[in-house]
Amino acid sequence: PSIGVVIPAAGRGTRAGAGCQKAYRRIAGNTVINRVLKLFRSWKTDCPIIVVHHPDDTALLDASVDRDANIYTTIGGDDRPASVLQGLRFLASLDQSPSHVFIHDAARPFAPHQVLNRVYECIVKEPTVGVIPAITVSDTLKKTDSNGLITATVPRDGLSRAQTPQAFELQIILDAHERAALSSTEYTDDASLFEELGLPVRIVAGDAQNIKLTYLEDFEEADRSLRLRNN
Ligand code: CTP
Ligand code: MG
Repeated sequence: PSIGVVIPAAGRGTRAGAGCQKAYRRIAGNTVINRVLKLFRSWKTDCPIIVVHHPDDTALLDASVDRDANIYTTIGGDDRPASVLQGLRFLASLDQSPSHVFIHDAARPFAPHQVLNRVYECIVKEPTVGVIPAITVSDTLKKTDSNGLITATVPRDGLSRAQTPQAFELQIILDAHERAALSSTEYTDDASLFEELGLPVRIVAGDAQNIKLTYLEDFEEADRSLRLRNN
C-alpha cells in the first residue's frame, strides 16, 4: 500500500485555555506541529502530508513549520470531522494519491514509530480493514449522576481507549466522511464512521506515551519530562 497522512490541526484548543494555540505551542523548544511532522517524516521520507489548519492560523503555521515539497496545507472546518474531510479531499485530489491514509491528531506529538509500524503492518496484511491503536483501560470505571453520586460500576472487559494514527483505505474513509458530513451525528474519531457502516476495524497496541495534549497541564508535564530526557 502507499500511504498519505492527514493531520487535523484546526481546533481552537478550548480546554487548554484561550490563546494556548496547541499546535503552535513549543514543548522543550520545538512546536507541537513540527514534532508531528518530524515523527512522520523520519518514518516515511516522501509520503504526502496534509496539515489541516484554522484560517486564523495561516501566519503561525508558516512561521512554525519546516516545509518540504510533500507537505501541503489546507483550511479546516468547524469540527474535527469537517477538518478531516478537507484533508482527505485534498489528499485524494493529488496527482498520485495514495491507497491508504493515516489520520493523526496534531495534538499527539509523541506517537512512537513502533505504533506507526504496528498500524502499517495491519494495512499490509488486511488492506480493507481499518486500524486504530488503543490501550486497554486499567482503572475501575464509575458512572455518576448529576449530584456526583455513583450509579454503577461499568465492567471494563473489552474496553479500550482509542488513539491515533487511525488508518483506512483512502477512498472508503473519504466516502464515509462525505456521508457523515450530511448527518447530525457527532463523531469523535474516524474509526466510528467505519463502524457505523458495518466495516471492520482492528485494534493494535497503542502506547501510553501517545497522549493527546488536551489541557494546559499536559503541555507543562510534557515539557518537563522532555527536558529531563534532553529531547
Ligand atoms: N481539530 C480540527 N478541527 C476542528 C477541531 C479539532 O482539526 N474543528 C483537531 C485539533 O486541532 C486536534 C485534533 O482535532 O489536533 C483533536 O482535537 P482536540 O484535542 O479536541 O483539539 P481541539 O478541538 O483544538 O481542543 P478543544 O476540544 O479543547 O477545543
Ligand atoms: Mg476538540
